[in-house]
Amino acid sequence: MVTKVKKYLLYFIIAISFIIVCTAGFMAWTFVSSKTSTVGELSFDNPLRIPELLEPTIDSEGRKVFDLTFNNGEVEFIDGKITKTWGISAPYLAPTLRAERGDEVVVNIKNDVNEPTTLHWHGMILPAEMDGGPHQLISPGKVWSPTWTISQPASTTWFHPHLHGETAEHVYRGAAGLFILDDKESNELNLPDDYGINDIPLIVQDKSFNNDGSMSNESKIFSNVGILGDEILVNGTHSPNFEATTNLVRLRILNASTARVYNFEFDDKRTYQLIATDGGLVETPVEIESLLLSPGERAEIVVPIKPNDSVVLQSNSPDLESPFWSQRYNGGDDTFDILKIQSGNDLTELPMIPSELVKIDWPLPSDVVETRHFELTGTSLINGKEMDMNRVDEVVVAGTTEIWKLVNPREETYHNFHAHGIHFSVLDVNGEEPPEYLKGWKDTVYLPPTGKVTVIARFESYVNHEVPYMFHCHILMHEDQGMMGQFIVVEPGANPEKTLPSHDHTHNH
Ligand code: C2O
Ligand code: CU
Ligand code: CU
Repeated sequence: MVTKVKKYLLYFIIAISFIIVCTAGFMAWTFVSSKTSTVGELSFDNPLRIPELLEPTIDSEGRKVFDLTFNNGEVEFIDGKITKTWGISAPYLAPTLRAERGDEVVVNIKNDVNEPTTLHWHGMILPAEMDGGPHQLISPGKVWSPTWTISQPASTTWFHPHLHGETAEHVYRGAAGLFILDDKESNELNLPDDYGINDIPLIVQDKSFNNDGSMSNESKIFSNVGILGDEILVNGTHSPNFEATTNLVRLRILNASTARVYNFEFDDKRTYQLIATDGGLVETPVEIESLLLSPGERAEIVVPIKPNDSVVLQSNSPDLESPFWSQRYNGGDDTFDILKIQSGNDLTELPMIPSELVKIDWPLPSDVVETRHFELTGTSLINGKEMDMNRVDEVVVAGTTEIWKLVNPREETYHNFHAHGIHFSVLDVNGEEPPEYLKGWKDTVYLPPTGKVTVIARFESYVNHEVPYMFHCHILMHEDQGMMGQFIVVEPGANPEKTLPSHDHTHNH
């Protein structure tokens, strides 16, 4: 009897040990295989594609008119494999729009894909009804024609679909582009501004491809941010090289990925100058060696190039400030070769970057009339609520200054925070002065696990009680799952409805 019990106990122990060893083995295997690196593996055979500049026509009212069409495309990103894509007036991504402060613009956007979508102007200061958020639907076959006056400093803004629940999918397929803004001050600074020659857009996106060339939408095991691809495309070019012809090259970097955070560095650790953040030029250029950009963020940097140079822009293990396991499962240990820059013997010398760029009229804490708190939890909640298209979450008075306190209370995942219709300045990160590369106008900011970020903004004067602006996590899977809210901007003393009328505000034709 006793021996029988002993025998079963022994079997039991063996079985349990077997399960433990298997689980540990599986965990170790997933941990090890969750690290991605392409460093040293690319041939850099493909010339970097530069999105063409779209020439506007001028209408009878003197407005710059741009015509764009959402279309299906097919692209050979990887040799011999065809990938089905979306693009905007291009097989993948879009031509670049460019306008100057003071310009009145019209964009006619036609939907030639078989699904409803929207087109949002990320970083643009404009009326809510022109913003292209989830309320401004463009049905298949229809044209939406927003119009507004450019009334903000020179900057690198971008555009992408914003259909609620489908944003990640639409952006991942390739619908996105740049809208570059100029102004008098920046034109006079003599910065590198020869588009495609020494002023280079870099739209950085990660992708995964299936064997047949199609894009893979699969999330990695244990990741809670959505798609983290193992290949990088720059302006839709895989394994790209760029031939520099000047001793300084300005890079306008946009993280247009759905979830991935990058830490941009050169393989020889050369330093470069940061000249602009999301919303425009910084006051004084900052010399840095690495730069963290979460999805939706932009930065402009100026890189020194020597004769016969060869240098690789990489992303090196972005510090997500996560516990080691989510650091690993959310891409924090990944390293990528992104773009090779080469040069010949003869370089055109460009003027040095001025040590003063612009004077920023910062919003002042002494002007603050309201402080709001936003707590991002799980993968879908802001202040405990999921996005509701008919609910107004916040009411802001036009022309006033507010502090927004952004909190990610948990360790489980990273977030970031983006607001439409405004630019903000970062007052502190975890109670400390923000890093140098955040000291400029921002519209999107990284929110690390157990992180707190305080921002201050002056709201514009575009008033609308029925059409809201969005604020949300720009990890697009989180946004689609509901990590988004709405605010309206009203005149002083107004008492607006907190429920929006449920008709849609689209004026398609
Ligand atoms: Cu780039 Cu609300 O988005
Ligand atoms: Cu936006
Ligand atoms: Cu998030």
